[in-house]
Order: sequence, then C-alpha cells, then structure tokens
Amino acid sequence: MQNDDCRIISANEENLRIAGRLIREGELVAFPTETVYGLGADACSDIAIAKIFEAKNRPQFNPLIVHYPSINEIEKDVEFNDFAKMLARHFWGGAMTLVLNRSENCRISKLASAGLPTLAVRIPSNKTAMEFLKESGVPIAAPSANKSGSVSPTSPVHVANSLGDRVKKIIAGGRCEIGLESTVIYVADESNPVILRSGAITAEDIEKATGRKISYSHEYIKDNKSGETPISPGQLLSHYAPNAKLRLNAVDLEQGEALIAFGLDRFMGIKGGGSAKDLPEHMRYNLSENADLTEAASNLFNILHEIDKNGCEKVAIMNIPQIGIGIAINDRLSRAAGFKH
Ligand code: TXA
Ligand code: MG
Repeated sequence: MQNDDCRIISANEENLRIAGRLIREGELVAFPTETVYGLGADACSDIAIAKIFEAKNRPQFNPLIVHYPSINEIEKDVEFNDFAKMLARHFWGGAMTLVLNRSENCRISKLASAGLPTLAVRIPSNKTAMEFLKESGVPIAAPSANKSGSVSPTSPVHVANSLGDRVKKIIAGGRCEIGLESTVIYVADESNPVILRSGAITAEDIEKATGRKISYSHEYIKDNKSGETPISPGQLLSHYAPNAKLRLNAVDLEQGEALIAFGLDRFMGIKGGGSAKDLPEHMRYNLSENADLTEAASNLFNILHEIDKNGCEKVAIMNIPQIGIGIAINDRLSRAAGFKH
C-alpha cells in the first residue's frame, strides 16, 4: 500500500462531512484518536458492526468500545453511577474507557457488547475525532484499526497497510499523541471497580483524582450464560503481536538480534563480540533516548511496525521501568512477546 493511497483523506470540513455521511450509510471509516487509530462504524447498526468484525477478522466474542461526543449522549445508552461520573469528570475527553451496564433503552447494537450485559464507552480528546463524532451524529463503535492480533495503528499508513481495501476512508490526523490504547475500567459494579487494560491513565492517577484505590486485573473472568467469557477479552494473549520474536528485559544482544533500546544503548554488548552501536540502522531502535516513558509509549507501536517492515526476525528489548505508563508499555510488550511461543 502506498502513502498516496486515495482512501487517506485530510481532516478538513468537507471531508469530515463526507466521512460522517459514510458512517450514517453504514460504511467503515478509520479515524485518529489520541490513543490509536479507530475503525469506526455506526454503533446502532448491526450490519455496520458486523462489517468491523469481518474487516478485522475479529473473534465475535470480543466486544467493542463505543465513542461519543458528550456525556449526555452516553447517558442514553448506559447506567451511569457516581464513581463513573467522577472518573468521567476527571479524565474525559481522554484515554479512558468505562465499562458500564447497558441501559434499558440502549440504542447500541448488541453485537458491540458481544453477549455481555455491559457496554464500553469513551469520549476522546482528539480534536479531529470529536469533530468526526459530531458530524456523524451517531455513536461510533471503533476498535483499533488493524487486523485482529496485530499491532495497533498509530498512523494512517499503518491503517492502510493492515486493512487494505476493507475501509472506505481513512481520516488522516498524523501520529497519535499517546500511541497506546485507552485504559479500560470496569465500573458496572461500582463497589468493585477494576482496571481491565492498562493505559496512559494509571491506577495512581485514579487514586489521586478520586481518593479510591483501584487494582489491575488481567484475569478477571465473569460468569455469564456460557460461564467462561473473559470480562475483557482484549486481555487475551494474542493481542498486539508483531511477526518478530521478542525477548524482553535484555541486558545484552544475541548474534542476529535487533535492538529496541530505552535510554542509552551504548553499553549493550553483542555476545561473541561487538556492541549495539555497530548494528545497522534497520536493527537499532530506541523508544526514548532520554528514557522518557511518555515518549516511549508514543513510539512503541510505530517501532513494532518498523521491525516487521524491515524484516527483523529476533528482537531484544531493554528493561522498561514498571511505573506510570511504563505499566502499560510492559503489558503490551509481554503480550507481543507471549504470542509467538
Ligand atoms: O484507545 C482505544 O481504546 C482504541 C481507540 C480507537 O479508542 N480502541 C481500542 O479498541 O483499543 P479495541 O477494540 O482494540 O479494544 C477494546 C478493549 C478490548 O480489550 C475489549 O475486550 C474491551 O475493550 N471491552 C470492550 N467492551 C467491553 C465490555 N463490555 N466489557 C469488558 N471489556 C470490554
Ligand atoms: Mg485492539
């Protein structure tokens, strides 16, 4: 796929109007958010949502996040509780998704909930995303705009490469500011909220803002009719995987390995002789030379795309501190590494 792909359109007023109309007509439109690019469809339409699953090759049991321009609109579709309201006040628009019970008159296709009694909702902060949502006039269901199981897209070209001709238009909005998917918080049970997927908004941020402790749960299983549906199936290990085999917390390099560094890489030796600085350019990457975790998060998926594009088969990754957004980076990295073995 070329960069001059005509499905990639700039985010001007006229194009956003066209994109909004395509959504109302039941088509798929990819759009930028501050986290990753989303593959959008009219969340009220079963057929439009089925198109998302088909385009992504996504297991039907994996539910979708629905995006809204305002809390007023969200309140029509889910049962808001006090804790959810407090979180919304502090962190929306932004990289936070709340999982709440569907309301009695919920307008959203049941396919978006994949059989669960809950619905995941989010108001993004990205300006283009908000304009697109307002222009569409319907809530937009949007998973990350990539084939299921591969790395999430943080640029329009990533979307074009991953979804081929499965999408009508891709609204360009440059590189995603955060670069990691939103923090998903299960708040349907107000007395027992839990973080289902880590992201830029951390447990620490939540505690600071609300005064409540909240834990991460990676294996939170909820009994439903089948008895065994993961409450957040996105936690399955098969997510975020590049083709390359990844080795985490590396302190040196094996022969033939590419390097993804964090901070200075000049002390990384290659077993049998040599050091990282001798590696050819296509085998030497750095998430953040200044060891800045926010910068590292924004570069992570881009670098995972690059290593696949450049044909790296084995990649060593230096240790990332398990603090702040580092928790989310390590979560995605361990999934990316776990999938291959
Ligand atoms: O940053 C993001 O969240 C991006 C942008 C486009 O908004 N979207 C995204 O969507 O990452 P997706 O589909 O790739 O991931 C959605 C996550 C999955 O882990 C899914 O299992 C979880 O949200 N999820 C959705 N609905 C849920 C529900 N009702 N209960 C529990 N988890 C849910
Ligand atoms: Mg995804």
